[in-house]
Amino acid sequence: MTIDRERVVALDKARVWHPYTSMDEYAQGVDPIVVVRAEGPWLHDADGRAYLDANSSWWVASLGHNHPRLVAALARQARDNCHSALAGMTHPPAAELAEALCGVAPRGGPDGGGLEHVFFSDDGSTAVEVALKLSVQYWAQNGRPARTRFAALGEAFHGETIGATALGGVELFRRPFRGVLAECFHLPSPGDPSVSAERALEALERLLAREADTIACVVVEPMVQGAAGMWMHDAAYLRAARALCTRHDVFFVADEVFTGYGRTGPMWACQHAGVAPDLLCTAKGFSGGMLPMAATLATRRIHDGFLGGRERAFYYGHSFCGNPLGAAVALEVLRVYDEERVLERAAPKAARIAEAFAKMASLRGVARTRSLGMIGALDLAGDAGYLAGAGWRVYDEARRRGAYLRPLGNVIYVAPPLNIPDADLERLLAIVAESVAAVAGA
Ligand SMILES: Cc1ncc(COP(=O)(O)O)c(C=O)c1O
Repeated sequence: MTIDRERVVALDKARVWHPYTSMDEYAQGVDPIVVVRAEGPWLHDADGRAYLDANSSWWVASLGHNHPRLVAALARQARDNCHSALAGMTHPPAAELAEALCGVAPRGGPDGGGLEHVFFSDDGSTAVEVALKLSVQYWAQNGRPARTRFAALGEAFHGETIGATALGGVELFRRPFRGVLAECFHLPSPGDPSVSAERALEALERLLAREADTIACVVVEPMVQGAAGMWMHDAAYLRAARALCTRHDVFFVADEVFTGYGRTGPMWACQHAGVAPDLLCTAKGFSGGMLPMAATLATRRIHDGFLGGRERAFYYGHSFCGNPLGAAVALEVLRVYDEERVLERAAPKAARIAEAFAKMASLRGVARTRSLGMIGALDLAGDAGYLAGAGWRVYDEARRRGAYLRPLGNVIYVAPPLNIPDADLERLLAIVAESVAAVAGA
């Protein structure tokens, strides 16, 4: 099928309101990549050009685009049942997926156990929203009704709903909604280069000592705060934060929407610290980046806190909760991780990312670099923050060289599919270095 690229761009510019995009700048200054096909780490434009997808399309395509086994699982499920509701009835993919997910969930919670129940929703934001509502309702009906506030890290990002926005620490994203947000304490982040690990932990310790009676849960992005600019912290912080939450009996929520499914090395970032949360949020790579599908995993204690009659049930559920297509694909994702030894085979690729980014520290115009698992990041010297312009100049250079390298302000990063072929990874790393050098030398 031939595609009229000009028509697509004209319709897009006339009608489509893009996410996280200044629409006047977009309308006037952007000639968008028009993706007509995606395969593995590659995005193919209607004009015949191909681009390496450096961020796995907003961190979702952990197994690359259009993995043939996921496409086949989708087609198989579509023949049987595209959608049926999950209220009081069920279907095989949801039941099998919940069982498989609990089987791979992290262990090491307060009672040494893991996560035993799964609540399905649509995306990362709703997985977090579910965790917040579960926490508040649990305490409301289990003897601690004053626990209605939350705690999160500075510069945290947990999604787009009003609940998730309340947790968010990026001022630019919070500002318009300040008047309608739930109360959330923002703690100094252990990933903030200006904050020491000790100070971050002391702040959490002090907050819980003072406010544990009013806090329903502490929410963290374990090991890496993605949207903050790939801020990384030590596993020791996670271990200590888990222990503090246990001591004060406040729920510890791990938002593994970005970090799960091997992005940082192990299946879950919590496993760096050998801990399990009370609630775990997963999305993005959870459905192989193919369908909007998410889950919130809970301990037996939390689940059982909703038993005891109709008054105590969790009155929450999206239309597409547990969607059979999404569930069938998510189940196949777990099989692919196992049978294709995805984590094991990603380890040498992660080492290559670490090596290449460490080397880029000596490039002119680079302030610092870091890496963890299949993430490599560098800060450009100069203006920081989400609106900084230098990242977009690197983006333009990378696009000319064949990569989609969307920055986070002045932070340039890669988070490619975990199974990116070695030659493509080398090409991507070379493009990053060349593009940064081109901007610094300009
Ligand atoms: C840690 C984290 N939580 C939640 C979300 C929200 O996920 P979604 O965009 O699927 O709603 C994101 C999105 O980037 C995220 O990085």
